[in-house]
Amino acid sequence: MSEVLELNCRNAMADVVGEEHGISEAELADLQEKADEAHQHLKARRDAGELPFFHLPYEKELAEEILRFASDMRGSFSNYVHVGIGGSSLGPKAVHRALLHPFHNELPDDERSGPRIYYLENPDPDTVAGLLDFLDVSRTLFNIVTKSGSTAETAAIFLVVADALQKALGPKWKQNLVFTTDPEQGDLRALAREEHILTFSIDPGVGGRFSVLTPVGLLPAAVAGIDIRAMLNGAADMDRRCQSADLRDNPAYQFAALHYLANQRHGKTQAVMMPYADSLYDLADWFRQLWAESLGKARDLDGREVHVGQTPIKALGAVDQHSQVQLYIEGPNDKLITFLRVEQFRREVKIAPNFGGYRSYGYLGGKRLNQLLNVEQQATAEALAAHQRPNLTLHFPKVTPGTLGQFFFMLEVATAFSGGLYHIDPFDQPGVEHGKKLTYRMMGRDE
Ligand code: PA5
Repeated sequence: MSEVLELNCRNAMADVVGEEHGISEAELADLQEKADEAHQHLKARRDAGELPFFHLPYEKELAEEILRFASDMRGSFSNYVHVGIGGSSLGPKAVHRALLHPFHNELPDDERSGPRIYYLENPDPDTVAGLLDFLDVSRTLFNIVTKSGSTAETAAIFLVVADALQKALGPKWKQNLVFTTDPEQGDLRALAREEHILTFSIDPGVGGRFSVLTPVGLLPAAVAGIDIRAMLNGAADMDRRCQSADLRDNPAYQFAALHYLANQRHGKTQAVMMPYADSLYDLADWFRQLWAESLGKARDLDGREVHVGQTPIKALGAVDQHSQVQLYIEGPNDKLITFLRVEQFRREVKIAPNFGGYRSYGYLGGKRLNQLLNVEQQATAEALAAHQRPNLTLHFPKVTPGTLGQFFFMLEVATAFSGGLYHIDPFDQPGVEHGKKLTYRMMGRDE
């Protein structure tokens, strides 16, 4: 493994930020017994095939099928529109933002790595109509992604899109559609069978927020020319690093344990993820859903009322130094902050050594934007630590399909393991389901 994610926990520890706010070695040692139990439970469920997200890095045949589809598609369409919400859009969006040119859609056709890419997530009429205002739907592939096949937002946008396609293409309207849904269940699957629409399957045992390494995330990545084999290999590499029950050896367990102890023993009710790279900002959005929906639970596994869960927050460095960091440093000491830091950006931008006579400009000349951003990350981490604000830094040697695969898998394992520490089910989402049911009722759908 050449490019390895590294988690630096120094600034979260009691010897740096003090006993009141930092985690002590003794606390970690005390937690090890509970961690061993959570590990055994997770392992037993994995071995019994009950947690199929663990097997996704090894689904090589599926990846080849997706690559074949993507290569056919890239010759036939200029635009790709991803229709989905929550776990059906946050992963692919994070992958695209992390790995594509930041102005991908604006590049000329021969310089783009794939079709122009758009997302329709919210049923906001201005956004949906706005996209259709200029999009040549005849040159566009629409991917309708919904595991349940029934989410109201996605269903409504699908109906609008299908209508636009029928009007533009007549009987050929289905050629511009692909579905991604459950292999058997749900109305979208039934519709696909009836209308003979090409459909990729999401393993029924993989929840939306754990689905980035299924066709939900892999297909849009492949369509954009991203190396999905390398992404899966990165996830498999991380899987190998996450075999030990030892909280010091296993990066996913370490991340989970520090968050758990910070939350339960030190009042850190909020978990901030703050990438210092524009390309990684949507990873924080993906993590926000994973952490919130998985761990925010009313009852534990014995039915006791517990109301656990940290509130995940996303922030962007250096932008939010000018917005949030004042609060993080001097406001309530209720946060554990995770920085995402990129050691080697794809580009290097040298700062021209002009206007050297001015104090505010002269010192920057000859340095690099890369250096400025990373110095700012380090300065913020140290300033926080100096104010007893615990923080972690996850180092990306580079942003590549491989390191993204490592990131996704590490945090999915961390989330599953945290479920064991909190003694809750991290794989259900009764609160979301409740809201969905009320929407159906209010919009007049039969139960
Ligand atoms: O993680 C989850 O389960 C949810 O956020 C779902 O992904 C989201 O509600 C969308 O569901 P579906 O894919 O069924 O349309």
